[in-house]
Amino acid sequence: MSKQAHWETVYREKCEDELSWHQEAPAVSIELLELAGLQDGVSVIDIGAGTSRITDALLTRGIGDITVLDMSEAAIEATRARLGEAGSGVTWIVGDVTRWEPARQYDIWHDRAVFHFLVTPEDRAAYIARLTRSLPSGGHAVIATFALDGPEKCSGLPVIRYAPQTLADTLGAGFELIAERQHSHQTPWGSTQAFQYSLFRKT
Ligand SMILES: C[S@@+](CC[C@H](N)C(=O)[O-])C[C@H]1O[C@@H](n2cnc3c(N)ncnc32)[C@H](O)[C@@H]1O
Repeated sequence: MSKQAHWETVYREKCEDELSWHQEAPAVSIELLELAGLQDGVSVIDIGAGTSRITDALLTRGIGDITVLDMSEAAIEATRARLGEAGSGVTWIVGDVTRWEPARQYDIWHDRAVFHFLVTPEDRAAYIARLTRSLPSGGHAVIATFALDGPEKCSGLPVIRYAPQTLADTLGAGFELIAERQHSHQTPWGSTQAFQYSLFRKT
């Protein structure tokens, strides 16, 4: 099964309570987005957004320039339906972050639990190329992955686990690590998963 078909099946067949990564309030993401300068007038792209509540939180804070990208059309449809009229100004992109061609730049890039699925050097290089093109110098990226003591798989797929510094090493010299958080995520069924959240500034 292709990756796209995998994620399409996940979102068509499972409810949110069956998704290990589901969280009602993306508190750590918002904390780091605020450190990155989240305020009226900034543009934000959420990579591999799934059905995350990030967009809801951004809209609540008055952010008007929001782009949501995911390879699953079902996930995008579900989020659009949930937001209704409130999401009418959001730009929705169904696409693979390793193949998508960004047509503009964003002040802030957010990715929770997507980069860690890129297990080949080619996919990581393609992601980093798009991240680099999407941010102006001084732009910020919040990237959350499973931590070194986190699970080895997510949604049945292998992942690469990171510490903030190993993630910084992977992104390369073009990105400066400026803040980091460890977070123990509680799944909807009460188990815990160790995440790291890193905030980078494009140099
Ligand atoms: C574990 S979920 C995390 C969803 C969301 N970021 C959150 O925190 O709730 C991973 C998401 O990344 C998406 N995804 C995986 N690989 C992707 C890729 N190469 N390009 C775009 N989206 C991808 C999946 O469809 C899924 O929605």
